[in-house]
Amino acid sequence: MCGIIGAIRRDGGILNSLVEGLRVVEYRGYDSAGVAILEDGAIAVRKKQGRLENLEAVLEDGAFDNAPVGIGHTRWATHGEPNDRNAHPHQGATGRVAIVHNGIFENYLELREQLTAQGVKFASETDSEVMAQLLDLELQENISLQDAMRRALHRVEGYYALGAICQGPEGPELVCARKGPPLLVAFTPDAAYLASDVLGVLPHTDKVIYLEDGDVAILKPGSIEVTDFEGQPVEREISKVDWKPGDSGLGGWPHYMLKEIHEQPDVLARTALDRIDLERGDVTIEGGQFEDDFLQGVERVQVLACGTALHAGMIAKYLIEGLAKVPVDVDFASEYRYRDPIVVPGTMALAISQSGETADTLGATRLAKELGAKVAAIVNVAGSTQMREADQILLTHAGPEIGVASTKAFTAQVAAAVLLAVRMGRAKGTLPVEEAKAILTELNGLRTKIEHLLSEPIRDHIHDLAKIHARAKGFFFLGRGVNFPVALEGALKLKEISYMHAEGYAAGEMKHGPIALIDPGMTIVSINAPGHVADKVRSNIEQVKSRGGVALSVGSHEGSHKIAGQCIRVPETIEWLSPILNTIPLQLFSYYIADLRGCEIDKPRNLAKSVTVE
Ligand code: AGP
Repeated sequence: MCGIIGAIRRDGGILNSLVEGLRVVEYRGYDSAGVAILEDGAIAVRKKQGRLENLEAVLEDGAFDNAPVGIGHTRWATHGEPNDRNAHPHQGATGRVAIVHNGIFENYLELREQLTAQGVKFASETDSEVMAQLLDLELQENISLQDAMRRALHRVEGYYALGAICQGPEGPELVCARKGPPLLVAFTPDAAYLASDVLGVLPHTDKVIYLEDGDVAILKPGSIEVTDFEGQPVEREISKVDWKPGDSGLGGWPHYMLKEIHEQPDVLARTALDRIDLERGDVTIEGGQFEDDFLQGVERVQVLACGTALHAGMIAKYLIEGLAKVPVDVDFASEYRYRDPIVVPGTMALAISQSGETADTLGATRLAKELGAKVAAIVNVAGSTQMREADQILLTHAGPEIGVASTKAFTAQVAAAVLLAVRMGRAKGTLPVEEAKAILTELNGLRTKIEHLLSEPIRDHIHDLAKIHARAKGFFFLGRGVNFPVALEGALKLKEISYMHAEGYAAGEMKHGPIALIDPGMTIVSINAPGHVADKVRSNIEQVKSRGGVALSVGSHEGSHKIAGQCIRVPETIEWLSPILNTIPLQLFSYYIADLRGCEIDKPRNLAKSVTVE
């Protein structure tokens, strides 16, 4: 949930590297920001509650120009409210060391008591400060930071991505450690860097080392040494990142979310088109993934995901059961991992995750693996933990998604689910080649329909509707079949960026209670496409309208549009692919409402991009 940056450089000039690094990882958490800089043997800390610009306002111009090493942090608060005192970095009692931390030290209270009994005075309410105090005590024995780190790591429980600096016996030291949340390191001839994700080091190099749980890394200008917690060297490969520094830029857009909504035609092309084989009516996933021999052994699928990714997983259920005739269970990863799930032989656990670092999805997937499942993953971040722990991988190529509200990653996940369902259906012989060709041909041509939905007239129309509904008392988003998860996704988008009450519901469920909430102040958004449930959704709209609800129909079902009165017309496509198209107007609708309400769109309150805590 937090963003961590660290740098050690031969030529100094650390501050700019840290601030620019924090700027690109700020989407990971934005309750506070801070830096610790080592200069002339002493550590200076600057940290402020709130956004990065609050920190920048207190950084003296030209300060620390010669500093050789530093660390930085953007926080999503877990322990201790967001304020200056609880902001990272944290120091120990003597100030000789500073740390930044992402994760939770689960035994921090016990350690605080022990340290307090030894006379240590804590400056914050955070769990993270415990590590700073432990390191401070260890370093009083004049040992290296890496040795002090390894000793301290044996005393803490929980999970963490850690960075630390100090003036060591032989000069400035930068050390980091990982157990749980992501952490990567990279080096150039004159420097070395650490970051929570690739965006933090991309301005310096596209070659990175993804640390594994149990790794300690010692960073020096031009080199990195990795050991385990016992000090034994471990080998870690250097990976090349296929993202470019510019990918994460705003590029003149008012918000990342709007930029990313408009990237969806390209994202669909990058995720799907090179994998479609129209000739054979099949799909090829690079790297020999999801071949016949693997898929023919799959008798059941267990989807595990959170939030928007779960909605994509719910769509995957309809697709895989419909096209491959394989039973699919879908569960909140956070529920699955704490119940006693039954994994039958032939189960494939399908993890879906944009970041590939969501703690609950990782935890659930690891449990499924322990219980005998094979693990597949649809992820967007190459090198992510979810990807590296999976047996089969389907990478989406959405590029970096900075907006906390997921948009392009979602439609990429759905496109990936279509590819997987077709592949599985062809592998198991349950999907006739002609039907597969029809689906893939339509997927191949979907780009122009997405571009139509992003054209100015449609955007203006959606903006006008947003002006009408921006003050609604609340929203129901209704859908059936493969568009029921679209209703859930539309409601989540509106909730998380406009802070308005919105519920996604199976349209058929309304009459079993929720319809009691319908009154003229409520807006009902119904998502509908031609297909076997279209008329049912239309009659659901009639039911809510007859009770005074204001209906907005989204989709390509003219009967629904007629009844609703207000509508957003979506180009027709086959039912299986309608979620990709139907979602896009909902993304724009939520964006415009949030903008009209003056909400912070890219960094909504209380949220963070990657939920690496449980
Ligand atoms: C999506 O708009 C939310 N920000 C959130 O629900 C997100 O989808 C969820 O946290 C899962 O993230 P992941 O895809 O990186 O695992």
